[in-house]
Amino acid sequence: MANTILVGAQWGDEGKGKIIDVLTEQADVVVRTQGGNNAGHTVFIGPKKYVLHLIPSGILRKKKTCVIGNGVVVDPIGLVSEIEGLRKIGVKVNGNLFVSETAHVVFPYHRELDAQREVLKGKNKIGTTKRGIGPAYGDKAARVGLRMIDLINAERFEQKLAAKVKENNEVLKAFGAKPLSFKEVHKTYRAAGDYLKPFVANTVTLLHQAVRRGDDILFEGAQGTFLDIDHGTYPYVTSSNTTSGGACTGSGVAPNRMDRVVGVLKAYTTRVGEGPLPTENAEVADMLHAMGREFGATTGRARRCGWFDSVATRHATMVNGIDDLAVTNIDGLDTVETIKVCIGYRDGKKKYDYMPNDVEVLARCEPVYAEFPGWRTPTDKARSWKQLPPKCREYLKAIAELTEAKLFIASVGPAREQTIFV
Ligand code: GDP
Ligand code: IMO
Ligand code: MG
Repeated sequence: MANTILVGAQWGDEGKGKIIDVLTEQADVVVRTQGGNNAGHTVFIGPKKYVLHLIPSGILRKKKTCVIGNGVVVDPIGLVSEIEGLRKIGVKVNGNLFVSETAHVVFPYHRELDAQREVLKGKNKIGTTKRGIGPAYGDKAARVGLRMIDLINAERFEQKLAAKVKENNEVLKAFGAKPLSFKEVHKTYRAAGDYLKPFVANTVTLLHQAVRRGDDILFEGAQGTFLDIDHGTYPYVTSSNTTSGGACTGSGVAPNRMDRVVGVLKAYTTRVGEGPLPTENAEVADMLHAMGREFGATTGRARRCGWFDSVATRHATMVNGIDDLAVTNIDGLDTVETIKVCIGYRDGKKKYDYMPNDVEVLARCEPVYAEFPGWRTPTDKARSWKQLPPKCREYLKAIAELTEAKLFIASVGPAREQTIFV
């Protein structure tokens, strides 16, 4: 399988968790390289549902090494409860999970600042997950963050944390928010530090040993292309590089060690949180929500929904270098009579066949649609390309062609077996 970077090609929640779980069967190592517990990756094994936030989805398969890379921001309390949660349901988390010693730590003041800034923004809020992601990456860039290596060193941690709490309490007071108790934060974080110490490692050298051995490494992207801090719909984005380059910087594995990029996308479009979504459509949203689908895996919020946007996915192919496509949630369109696909944008007289960088322009853009006849047949029992209805195959071929990448996987349900290799 070689070294594969898997990215979300839309606005997140494309079904990356499911596809990672399927591809992990052939992999030796699975690595998260960016984001934090803002992510929610759903995997079904039989009737059992698992939602992973920080731990790579590969953990659910036996004998796989899982790595939380240097580019991730780690909420240690969240990570401990995720490990405990997995252990309680019989998943082995011992000797198969490594956390980078240089990954930055998310603190309660990051979460509080995240929430306070959203309140201050009022109607211009981003709609963050309130997990403290933006402020934690902010501290990293400002060179005032604490890392896992600090968390597991009792003496150093106490000193650094005292200064951080003092400073951030002043900021919180300015927001009119309650200051934090150093004692409390220190106690809970030190306990988490002791718990996590056996997992903390130099993951850069660990991954290089894997590369040298010729192991197959899978890089599990979080969020999606249009939530990327550089390439997304700024400022309605997350605070990391969610595109394929983030896999290199967030792991320490160089670009020329990577073999291919897989883009995961839904057969339609969803977004959770604020910001422009050109193909947003109330009927599509009502239809999917009525099926009990498209509610966020992390916050439970109803996702905004719309038609497939090939302007966006083609842009995603460009910035990620996507070779292969995994199209998920095809079954979500099983009942639609006429399916629309956005093939261009129009802003007054100006036409776009790429994503404009200015979100105000993007918000004004009207989609130009092509129409495809729906297949109006359940697809969830299909197990091969041939078993898919002809109109469904035509639709998939068309969206792959418009996205300018090769169709690799067609997913017709959340389960492992509902996966068709094309
Ligand atoms: P991720 O963040 O990209 O891992 O995606 P999420 O787990 O947040 O959301 C994707 C949702 O779609 C989850 O509920 C998955 O179980 C579900 N899912 C993934 N692929 C399919 C599919 O082909 N069909 C259906 N019906 N559900 C799917
Ligand atoms: P996965 O990995 C979908 C969105 C939030 C918000 C914006 C910024 O499951 O695909 P943040 O808390 O990161 O500062 O929020 O990004 N967002 C996601 N949307 N899937 C995710 O992750 C997301 N992680 C963050 O809703 O709009
Ligand atoms: Mg998700």
